[in-house]
Amino acid sequence: MSEHEKEEIKIRPFWYSDIWLFPKLITVITTLDKEGRVNAAPYSHIMQYDVMHKNPSMILGFRQDSHTFVNICDTGEFVVNCPSADYLDDMMQTARFFPAGVNELEHTRFTPIPSRKVKPPSIAECPQIAECTVKEIVRLEKSSGIVIANIEAIVMDKGLEAMGREDRIKAMNLPIGLGDEKRRYYYHTFADRLACHELEDPPTAYQGADATTTMDWDEGATGHLMRIPPGIRQLVIGQVESFARGEGSDRVTEALFARMAEESGMDEAVMDRFRS
Ligand SMILES: Cc1cc2nc3c(=O)[nH]c(=O)nc-3n(C[C@H](O)[C@H](O)[C@H](O)COP(=O)(O)O)c2cc1C
Repeated sequence: MSEHEKEEIKIRPFWYSDIWLFPKLITVITTLDKEGRVNAAPYSHIMQYDVMHKNPSMILGFRQDSHTFVNICDTGEFVVNCPSADYLDDMMQTARFFPAGVNELEHTRFTPIPSRKVKPPSIAECPQIAECTVKEIVRLEKSSGIVIANIEAIVMDKGLEAMGREDRIKAMNLPIGLGDEKRRYYYHTFADRLACHELEDPPTAYQGADATTTMDWDEGATGHLMRIPPGIRQLVIGQVESFARGEGSDRVTEALFARMAEESGMDEAVMDRFRS
């Protein structure tokens, strides 16, 4: 048998967790029910979307009869708390099927603290927290409830933001979920063995230096453009020219370039991340 010989696997219920290895973020979501009682439970079906800073958002998938989903539908608010690996046992306590109205945090070492923008509490022991409100709810027929959420605040332990990524990954020590066996045994791993890979420019990146514009660019705007790394210059030209058209202009001026950069949050600090 060759090392890479394949077999098709029958797709059974809970395939995404039982068989498919889907390394996942481990979170504890806190909500309030209609009576204001705290609920907490772990959730991993979470994905960020919308890269720009104006509409930071997440998509989450829930069992529709879970207390968390019901509370989110009733109140429109929730908090995504990311515990470190030291709190996996506590996270698992919050997964137990307690009756509605039970505050699972009371069965853990987690400490509720006030959130900044929403009413459900945050968890003090979690280094990374997102306070969210509902943008849209989609109830898939005979399936999950999907919540598209606005991130109202990102709250982190002091000092984490200033760290380089490697130190931050180590300091946060977030566990990675690897699915379960028999819906009972949940496997996790830890980010204590780091690999770092450089994203190299494609062989044609230098061609960005020859990127073509379809409008007239004034000298100031051209100056800004030339400071953008060649690899993404053509992309930026497209975005800026489309912004100019939207503003009813057939010319890219320095002021217009600056306005677009500001509106999309692309200040010098952000641009520096793309410059080598
Ligand atoms: C690590 C982990 C991740 C989980 N992720 C999800 C998830 O993304 N969606 C979901 O519906 N249930 C998920 N569950 C199951 C719920 O946490 C579980 O059904 C819980 O009892 C629901 O509590 P609630 O009714 O208080 O919301 C997960 C469980 C664990 C242990």
